[in-house]
Amino acid sequence: MISTDVIIVGAGIAAYSVGCRLCDSGKKVIMLTKSEKQNCNSTLAQGGISVALRDDDNYMSHYEDTLTAGCNLNNKEATLELVKTAPSVIREFIDHGMNFDKNPDSSLSFGKEAAHKLARVIHAGGDRTGLKVMEQLYVNMADRTELHENEPVIDVIIKDGEAVGVVTRTADGKYHTYCAPYVVLATGGIGNLYPGTSNDHTITGDSVALGYRCGAELKNLEFVQFHPTLLTFGGKNFGLITEAVRGDGGVLINEKGEKIMEGVHPLKDLAPRDVVSRTVYKYTLAGEKIYLDISAIHDFKTRFPYVSEICETNGLDLSRNLIPVAPGAHFHMGGVKAKPTGETTVKGLYAVGEAACTGVHGANRLASNSLLEGLVFGRLTADNIISSDRKLKPCEYDFPTLEPKRPFPEKGQIKKVMMDCVGVIRTEEKMKQAIEFFEEYMPDKNGFGRINPDSVTNQELELYNMLTTGWLIAKAAYNRKESFGAHYIAEE
Ligand code: FUM
Repeated sequence: MISTDVIIVGAGIAAYSVGCRLCDSGKKVIMLTKSEKQNCNSTLAQGGISVALRDDDNYMSHYEDTLTAGCNLNNKEATLELVKTAPSVIREFIDHGMNFDKNPDSSLSFGKEAAHKLARVIHAGGDRTGLKVMEQLYVNMADRTELHENEPVIDVIIKDGEAVGVVTRTADGKYHTYCAPYVVLATGGIGNLYPGTSNDHTITGDSVALGYRCGAELKNLEFVQFHPTLLTFGGKNFGLITEAVRGDGGVLINEKGEKIMEGVHPLKDLAPRDVVSRTVYKYTLAGEKIYLDISAIHDFKTRFPYVSEICETNGLDLSRNLIPVAPGAHFHMGGVKAKPTGETTVKGLYAVGEAACTGVHGANRLASNSLLEGLVFGRLTADNIISSDRKLKPCEYDFPTLEPKRPFPEKGQIKKVMMDCVGVIRTEEKMKQAIEFFEEYMPDKNGFGRINPDSVTNQELELYNMLTTGWLIAKAAYNRKESFGAHYIAEE
């Protein structure tokens, strides 16, 4: 048994943001990740960080855009806290060494992305913002924390209703118990519950499942954002084509060369993501191919080096100026209900970043608000922990006796059901079918409870988390009877 001040589950921007600040204050932190530290969505993020730093911008304008994109279903207080705190957090990050892209006169360069009134998105390395930000956070963290890779968390340990630690299992089959007064869930979203996704292959809704199993309240699970432009051909997707491409003049066209966003929304190609995704999806459902026409963008390869690399390594000839695209699962607005300070409904349990639902994204996240959320609420979470005085309690893992239902489905079956039934366009009948599919795999009538880890492999535990999270999303979707943002119900 190992004791520490804080356990962080995950290794993306939110996890590192919490970790760096805690280490600054002298806290002892252990970070746990089920794969390697690079396996997170943050390192893949191409779009940047939205922040009201321009002289002609202000945080209220950023606030309004966030609410409009979120269909006003946002938590207003949390949203205000995010956009208002953002400028100082970003300035401080710059003071701590972060190098964002600049104009020739050395001022910060701002890009335009969907549903922002003006260009307020800062980038690093062109379209490599996420990677550059993470590299800086690794430098800032230095060797001040213990990072355990390839160590999936099986369960959060709860004693007297409070989180007191976690249990993990390494590839050699050994269990490890970590005790701490604070457990922070920061494993990112749920992208791999769907067949096409911009997410890293390890992102499988683990925090939702872990949170559910320890009785934490979950929120807005039905809101799954699909990004309209994943490089897609031959029925496969090969990664994200950042929205900044449309911000710089890229246009979505059909096989006849017609601009598909004309007449759909006043913001056309830069309409909110749910609107653009549905439009592209309708064409692809009808068997038509959709392309991003990049002919208006000068010096595309210099401006978008990573997008160019993704296209070229997958055999796409960019000289035709046409990138075939389709929507894919991108971001989960829902998650473990949390305050901007990370506190969940379970004492000692915190959630931050995409794993959490603070309500700032409402029904549809505004572009480039997610890295921002990780940085800003990561810092508030750390500050909350630093100023609290929870004590370390003895923690022991009582092995559950519940057996899983076998055989487990293939991952592909789960993904297909999620896309067909709880995807871009939903119907009541399909959402019901998804619930029925998942309930076939429920170990007993009480839901997807804690199962005996001795009877499953780590891969099966991941599948069990996917089944749990898929079921919860399907039920949340079924229970929201009106369309809002990313939750769109078609007439049957
Ligand atoms: O299109 C993008 O680069 C994505 C940005 C984001 O999800 O915020």
